[in-house]
Amino acid sequence: MRAVLCTTPGSVRDLTVATMSPLPLPDNGARVMVEAAGVNYVDALFVEGRYQIKPNPPFTPGSEVAGRIGEVGSEWSGPAVGTRVLVSCGMGGYATEVIARPGQAVPIPEQLSAPAAACFTQSYATALFALRTRAHLVGGERVLVLGGGGGVGLAAIQVATALGATVIAQGSTEEKRDAARRAGASITIGGDATTLKDDVRGSLDGGVDVVIDPVGGAFTGQALRTLRDGGRLAVIGFVAGPIPEIPTNQILLRNRSVVGVDWGIWAMTNPAAQGALLGELLAMVEAGSLTPAEPTLFSLDDAALALLALQERRVVGKIALSVSE
Ligand SMILES: NC(=O)c1ccc[n+]([C@@H]2O[C@H](COP(=O)([O-])OP(=O)(O)OC[C@H]3O[C@@H](n4cnc5c(N)ncnc54)[C@H](OP(=O)(O)O)[C@@H]3O)[C@@H](O)[C@H]2O)c1
Repeated sequence: MRAVLCTTPGSVRDLTVATMSPLPLPDNGARVMVEAAGVNYVDALFVEGRYQIKPNPPFTPGSEVAGRIGEVGSEWSGPAVGTRVLVSCGMGGYATEVIARPGQAVPIPEQLSAPAAACFTQSYATALFALRTRAHLVGGERVLVLGGGGGVGLAAIQVATALGATVIAQGSTEEKRDAARRAGASITIGGDATTLKDDVRGSLDGGVDVVIDPVGGAFTGQALRTLRDGGRLAVIGFVAGPIPEIPTNQILLRNRSVVGVDWGIWAMTNPAAQGALLGELLAMVEAGSLTPAEPTLFSLDDAALALLALQERRVVGKIALSVSE
């Protein structure tokens, strides 16, 4: 097998690709031959040693893949050999094969290509968990999505629209705003944090009910001020750099709430609920109410370039690594 390796945490430019022996197959596991690996912002944080969990090097980044089941252990009780599956593997996804543990291999609906399936779980599950479980969105409400041309942003726009909300999305380029509109946003606004509050209130008189915030930085405080009575701001990530400090008077005013979203830890500690959430999202794909865009493709050998493109905001939507032996 071939796999991307991080031998010393640091720059993503130092990632290498190595050939190694096939992974041992446990009795209750399945060997999945990877066709595409999802690239996520958190992968770069792992490689740089900036995430709260620090894996021991050498390690292979990549937390989600799509492929076909190639071989199963004697006690495997999941999908049969040959089935197209997506797998949330946690780590090791930038590789030609991964081992799926019980419950990890989920059949892919025919509507999803391998690259789109590889990028699906983290973004769409975070979006639904944030909007419905944490922010208690109901149909007819208004949602502001920050970073609306990014992975979580585009998923949040689609999921919020499918739940019956009106979406206003923020994005820094016309290309990203176009993608946000294609995903279902009724209104889009530009990338300037200083005018965010006025831009949103000017577009939607009275403001919004829910903010989806995977960006942080100067955007968070301004986004909080766009919430109307009883509004909820969902904190998802901090790609813009410094973790913002929130003025608590702005939470008191209008009975607003700020809610944390840690989908990863929730999914790990509530596997049955996560399985049900993912099943619901895949059923929405089958029914045509969610149509994930095709990701930008890089080869496995270009994993470093893919992560750089993500960090430098050069990509609209998701990136997937195209994988073959
Ligand atoms: N809490 C959770 O459970 C959870 C789950 C999944 C992801 N996350 C986190 O959510 C964040 C976003 O993930 P994602 O997959 O949406 O990432 P992404 O695809 O890279 O999108 C992030 C968007 O943020 C905007 N942005 C603004 N300032 C930026 C900066 N300085 N650097 C990079 N991007 C900037 C970019 O849009 P513009 O160029 O238009 O500004 C970009 O499209 C990450 O921190 C990720 O780790 C959290």
